[in-house]
Amino acid sequence: MVDVILGLQWGDEGKGKIVDYFAPNYDIIARFQGGPNAGHTLYVDGKKTVLHQIPSGIFHQNTMNLIGNGVVLDPVTLKRECDIVESFGIDVKKNLFISQRTNIILPTHRALDKASELAKGESKIGSTLKGIGPAYMDKTGRNAIRVGDLLDKSFTTNYIKLRLKHQKLLDNFHFIEDISAWEEEFFEAIEFLRTLKIVNGEYFINDHISKGKKVLAEGAQGSMLDIDFGTFPFVTSSNTISAGVCTGLGVAPQQIKDVLGVTKAYCTRVGGGPFPTELDDATGEELRKVGNEFGATTGRPRRCGWIDLVALKYACMINGVTQVVMTKADVLDKFEDLKVCTSYTVNGKETAEVPFQMSRVKVDPIYKDFKGWNQDTSSVRDAASLPSDMTSYIKFINEYIGAPTRYVSNGPGREQIVKL
Ligand code: GDP
Ligand code: IMO
Ligand code: MG
Repeated sequence: MVDVILGLQWGDEGKGKIVDYFAPNYDIIARFQGGPNAGHTLYVDGKKTVLHQIPSGIFHQNTMNLIGNGVVLDPVTLKRECDIVESFGIDVKKNLFISQRTNIILPTHRALDKASELAKGESKIGSTLKGIGPAYMDKTGRNAIRVGDLLDKSFTTNYIKLRLKHQKLLDNFHFIEDISAWEEEFFEAIEFLRTLKIVNGEYFINDHISKGKKVLAEGAQGSMLDIDFGTFPFVTSSNTISAGVCTGLGVAPQQIKDVLGVTKAYCTRVGGGPFPTELDDATGEELRKVGNEFGATTGRPRRCGWIDLVALKYACMINGVTQVVMTKADVLDKFEDLKVCTSYTVNGKETAEVPFQMSRVKVDPIYKDFKGWNQDTSSVRDAASLPSDMTSYIKFINEYIGAPTRYVSNGPGREQIVKL
């Protein structure tokens, strides 16, 4: 049996905290897509830590953590992260497993990401520059080097071949930065990677499932950044939605039970691209300040706005969301008035559907107003103590999107969560 936790917006919904919260109920936590573009924040013993490559179950001693075949893996980031996790007294090597089929991010993928973004100029995606797009291009282009290849003696030859190919592309971009230091740390990290548990991911996971073990698939990015269904081309390069679990881990669709979708009580986006409910005013600034909305991977200020129910309902539809987790509800505590977007005007015509090419049309949000609850909710632990204005806000959202909110997160801490 596999449950899924994934983001319903443009990423940073608080997936890391929620996965960490549910992890004790599962035997395996598995990442199925994305790479070090992800930044999942957890508080362990009150200390903040951000995970980019390792699944968010790593701090639980009895939970196995799998980096699945759908992930793109940067060995350098992984090594650095393993050191951080070990500093918490965790034996990373015991509970971390990596699929042989996981694709490796090379230093030249990072260089290509940078060169490609520079060449795009004004229309750049706002990539995290972690090499994600170029690494997935090599996967679908059938050139990639995979973790299992490390165990083969042709690894170095294949690396050199691919590097030469990348160099030609970099020359075309007139990219002249010296990346020899990146290569040095890459080869050190490759040696470290060889010492980890490299497994046949699809057998690993299916064998455990057939023995009755419970798997939690951890999404990265968000549904609106999905390569097919997101705000293309301002998206990431993988399928972030629940369908990605099957291809990213090698599990059959019948194995998937609950799909927990995580949404903020408002909305944020980092990087370029359309964001209909973005607030370019003092309210947006206030959301960023109170919500501490700065990227966990790049430190960039996140764009902030009201919750967008058109996009949220769309995300619930394509994911088959069975339960919603609303995070950062506490951030709205001091807002007198709230708004939720219930439809768009697209080129002058009202619609409740996400348009094909959001970046090419003019999208104006239409809002419904709500009264804020104006009280500190961060220490509430039971549903009955939540303010009625908050429960009305949530009830309206549930009815609109057709899925029930079952948990409200009201602070970054592990214990700050209310079951409805
Ligand atoms: P992820 O990428 O989806 O895991 O989310 P990030 O870690 O990038 O961003 C979420 C941020 O919000 C982190 O700084 C979390 O510590 C914080 N956070 C998560 N849940 C809550 C919450 O309910 N309230 C508040 N105030 N902060 C939260
Ligand atoms: P988590 O897992 C928010 C955004 C980037 C950029 C676009 C493409 O922490 O929610 P990429 O590096 O993938 O080529 O960037 O996607 N992006 C994210 N935004 N949270 C993330 O991950 C993101 N990962 C990528 O800002 O706009
Ligand atoms: Mg994040």
